[in-house]
Amino acid sequence: MNKPLEKPITQVTKPITQGCSIHLDEVCLEIEGKQVVNKLSLSTTIKRLGVIGRNGSGKSTLSRLLSGLIETSSGHIEVAGINPFKDRKGALREIGLLFQNPEHQIIFPTVIEEIAFGLRQQGQNKKTAEQNALQVLASFGKEHWQNVHTSALSQGQKHLVCLMAVMAMKPNLIILDEPFAGLDIPTKKQLRRYLDKFSGSLIHISHDPEDLNGYEQLLWLEGGEVAALGRYEEVLPRYLNEMDTLGDSDDISDLAS
Ligand SMILES: Nc1ncnc2c1ncn2[C@@H]1O[C@H](COP(=O)(O)OP(=O)(O)OP(=O)(O)O)[C@@H](O)[C@H]1O
Ligand SMILES: [Mg+2]
Repeated sequence: MNKPLEKPITQVTKPITQGCSIHLDEVCLEIEGKQVVNKLSLSTTIKRLGVIGRNGSGKSTLSRLLSGLIETSSGHIEVAGINPFKDRKGALREIGLLFQNPEHQIIFPTVIEEIAFGLRQQGQNKKTAEQNALQVLASFGKEHWQNVHTSALSQGQKHLVCLMAVMAMKPNLIILDEPFAGLDIPTKKQLRRYLDKFSGSLIHISHDPEDLNGYEQLLWLEGGEVAALGRYEEVLPRYLNEMDTLGDSDDISDLAS
C-alpha cells in the first residue's frame, strides 16, 4: 500500500505565469533519406498542450526535436527562448523529456542513482543530488524504491522512475511521450494528480483523448506535418471523426514511404 502523498511536487522554483513559448519555423527532419518531419511550422505559448496523431505521424520525433536530442535537417526551433539542440545547458534547465519507452531512458543500476543523475548533470554535488532524489521518491511515497535495481522493475514502475527523474530536475517544460502507457489505474491517477499540480508547462503526447481532457490546446500531427493546432474542443471532434472514418476502412497505419 502506498503512503499518502505528503509533499506534492509543486515547489517549482522558477514559476511560470505566461506559459512556455514554442516556435517552429519550417522544421524538416530527414532520417536515412526519409522525410520524417516536413516543413513543420507553429508558434504558440502553452501551459498544457496535448499532441495527438496516428502511429508514425511524428509525435515522438517532435518530442526529441523540442528537447534538443536531435537536430533538424533544416528550419529553426526555439523553445522557452532557446535553441534546445545548440544550448544544451539551457535545455537541461528548461526542458524535461519523458521517453515513450523507459528502456531508452534508464541507464543506472539503482533507482536513486537514476533519479540523482539529472541533478548531477545540473551541477548538484553527489550528496545534494541524492538528498533531492530521495525527497522526490518520498513525495511519491516510494522511498523504499531507492536501492531497488532498475532492471528488477516492471515496465510501468520504470515509467514512474523516469517521471520522478524528470520532475526532480524541476524543468519549466515537461514533454511527456505516452506517460500513462502500461501504468495501473491507481498509479495513473496519482501521476495525473501530480501533472495537474505541476506549475510549469506540459506537452503531453497521447493516443487517449481522455488523458488530455482539460488541456487548453491540441496539436494534431499527420505524416510529420501539422494537421491542426487549436483549442481542444475544436480539434478533438475533427480528429475523432477522421479516425472513425479511417477505422471503418482498411487503412492500417503503414510504414511511411
Ligand atoms: N531512427 C529512425 N530511423 C528511421 N525512421 C525513423 C526513425 N525514427 C522515426 N522514424 C520514422 O519517423 C516516423 C515518425 O515516427 P515517430 O516515432 O515519431 O511516430 P509517432 O507518432 O511517435 O508514432 P507512435 O504513435 O507509434 O508512437 C515513422 O515513420 C518512423 O518510422
Ligand atoms: Mg511515439
